[in-house]
Amino acid sequence: MATLIDGKKLAAKLKETVRAEAQLLPRRPGLAVVLVGDDPASRVYVTSKRRDCEECGFYSEEYALPAQTTQAELAALVDELNGKGHIDGILVQLPLPKGLDERKVLLSIDPGKDVDCFHPHNVGQLTIGTPVFQPCTPGGVMEMLREYEIDPEGKRCVVLGRSNIVGKPMALLLLHANGTVVLCHSKTPDMKALAASADILVSAVGRTGLVTADMVKEGAVVIDVAMNRDENGKLCGDVCFEEVASKASYITPVPGGVGPMTRAMLMKNTLTAAKLHQGV
Ligand code: GUN
Repeated sequence: MATLIDGKKLAAKLKETVRAEAQLLPRRPGLAVVLVGDDPASRVYVTSKRRDCEECGFYSEEYALPAQTTQAELAALVDELNGKGHIDGILVQLPLPKGLDERKVLLSIDPGKDVDCFHPHNVGQLTIGTPVFQPCTPGGVMEMLREYEIDPEGKRCVVLGRSNIVGKPMALLLLHANGTVVLCHSKTPDMKALAASADILVSAVGRTGLVTADMVKEGAVVIDVAMNRDENGKLCGDVCFEEVASKASYITPVPGGVGPMTRAMLMKNTLTAAKLHQGV
């Protein structure tokens, strides 16, 4: 039976470290969170981020804009936040409602306040191995591996899903940690066999029931990044947890796995930004 990787516990530990460091700064870190429209899942995430800020002793501002917000209105808000001295990090919750150009919005965020690590400047820094910010979800996964002394060096790492938010940056971080990385996507032939060859398997597709026991090597480390809902509306990941847990050496649960780590990494990035802005 696999060891459960406890994301909740590790996230609490990470946030405590962030809080202690933040207290030493002349000015407390500030995060602005922008939510456009009324997607219920996004609403929940935004509320959690406010709580995380309170726990870490950060200042936070929240902007809830209507779904009809125009590109120009959103650009004006980002511009204003770019100029605010007490705001270190800006997070625009994705996805944006139809009609708004996500790429344009992300490009307009000051790279020094891009705590999501979505701006091409920061993605470039990450790609060449000199990142200022860690992409939150993949960065959180790396923290989990470190905590449980799972070293990707020399391991075969298979990532399922090639999104800009998770799959691609996840592959880069594992590569920088000297893993041998295979990045699978919807056009990959025989993904099952590739997954079954992994020492470390990361699933970030968003399809309930995708990863079955026959896709997992005996003793593999299985990280489930997905946040899906099953037919009863219950939160679940991509991995068939019970059957895979009996084969894996380590496994993350959903909920209580990667999710809390993503949010803790956002706090860590906001602290990093605050240090940079204060010359610490
Ligand atoms: N939507 C889902 N995940 C994320 C994230 O990490 N950052 C932002 N801004 N939006 C998201």
